[in-house]
Amino acid sequence: MQLEPTEEQRLIQRTAREFAERRLAPSAAARDRDGRFPVEELRELGQLGLLGVNVPEDLGGGAAGVIAYSLALQELAKVDASVAVAVSVTNMVAELIAAVGTPAQRTAYVPGLVSGAAVAGAFALSEPQAGSDPAGMRTIATKVDGGWRLSGTKQWITSGDRAGVLVVWAMTDLAAGHKGITAFLVRGGAPGLTVGRLEEKMGLHGSSTAQLVLDGVEVGDDAVLGGVGGGFRLAMMALDGGRIGIASQALGIARGALEAAYRYAGEREQFGVTLWKHQAIGNMLADAATWLDAGLLLTLRAASLKEAGQRFSTEAAMAKLYATEKAGTICDIALQVHGGYGYTTDFPVERAYRDVRVTRIYEGTSEIQRLVIARSLLARMEK
Ligand code: CAA
Repeated sequence: MQLEPTEEQRLIQRTAREFAERRLAPSAAARDRDGRFPVEELRELGQLGLLGVNVPEDLGGGAAGVIAYSLALQELAKVDASVAVAVSVTNMVAELIAAVGTPAQRTAYVPGLVSGAAVAGAFALSEPQAGSDPAGMRTIATKVDGGWRLSGTKQWITSGDRAGVLVVWAMTDLAAGHKGITAFLVRGGAPGLTVGRLEEKMGLHGSSTAQLVLDGVEVGDDAVLGGVGGGFRLAMMALDGGRIGIASQALGIARGALEAAYRYAGEREQFGVTLWKHQAIGNMLADAATWLDAGLLLTLRAASLKEAGQRFSTEAAMAKLYATEKAGTICDIALQVHGGYGYTTDFPVERAYRDVRVTRIYEGTSEIQRLVIARSLLARMEK
């Protein structure tokens, strides 16, 4: 496994860092306060090539691989986790269409996603009654002449109200369980597609989370992605990669909070010495730095396997489980080091503490990651 980034990976990481510091940092707190979705920022990220880092070049992407993508996402999340999640989901959708779409679907949808013209991509899998168990979905696709009619409700859809391109999962055969699920490509603003509600969340205020209502949304036969009945496997495949994205997002948030804690501990004096010189504080920071590196190594391992075309479901689940759980603790420590100041909106650790919480929930809860890991361990034992 490669530990040192290549020149190309470093360049992409630097580009993301420079954009995050110059363009995102000055307005991140205001975006959070006002709940402003980063439309312009996403377009600029598209122009910089940061919406399609791991997308093939012939579709407008950078074809720079999963490690480069993870490093870039960490830099964005360190400064603005809301922007990072929109990038992560857009990348997941673009990669999925690039991987399994027909030539016509690839050219119709992917370039717009990676250039930023489509603003964002959305992954419409979850439903009010079907979150951890997506096979229990109730959205139905009924066959009509030349296409399909989609009806149902989708829940917790990141960028759902903003996305120019959505992948929507629906049952095409109710009796077939997960083998009756099909993925469809739907354009934002399609007739019959409306926003039921926008969630008011604890954090990630610059990211929108929509309930989407599909009331007879009509799509052609050419909107079926990857074959009728093949949708569940596609969702699982995409989520394996998505989990590397969320692990990266969590690492970025935690790194931002921890670096703020380092600075604060170096400036703040109590009992005549800086906080760094107090062993109680030094021990907390030492633990946090170690967990952060361990999370990074797990994430790089999953990214390396994916990049090499090997199986990586278990490793992605381990990376997401560990990185997101530890990122939560690291943000808590960073806030604690700041004392009362950390609890105020004057310091960015307060936002990091709120934003990081959901990384243990979306794209598969920690409990689902443990289930994926345990099942794979059992399968190995039974071999
Ligand atoms: N890759 C490819 N195929 C896979 C797979 C993978 N990682 N995991 C399972 N499959 C296949 C299996 O091989 C099986 O195929 P066959 O029927 O052909 O044998 C099929 O899928 C069913 O597998 P399981 O029996 O293991 O399925 P399950 O119902 O027990 O579920 C699960 C497994 C891992 C728990 C899965 O349901 C899961 O990941 N749940 C969490 C869902 C999730 O992450 N939701 C978040 C949605 S997105 C979001 O958060 C919002 C957003 O905006 C981003």
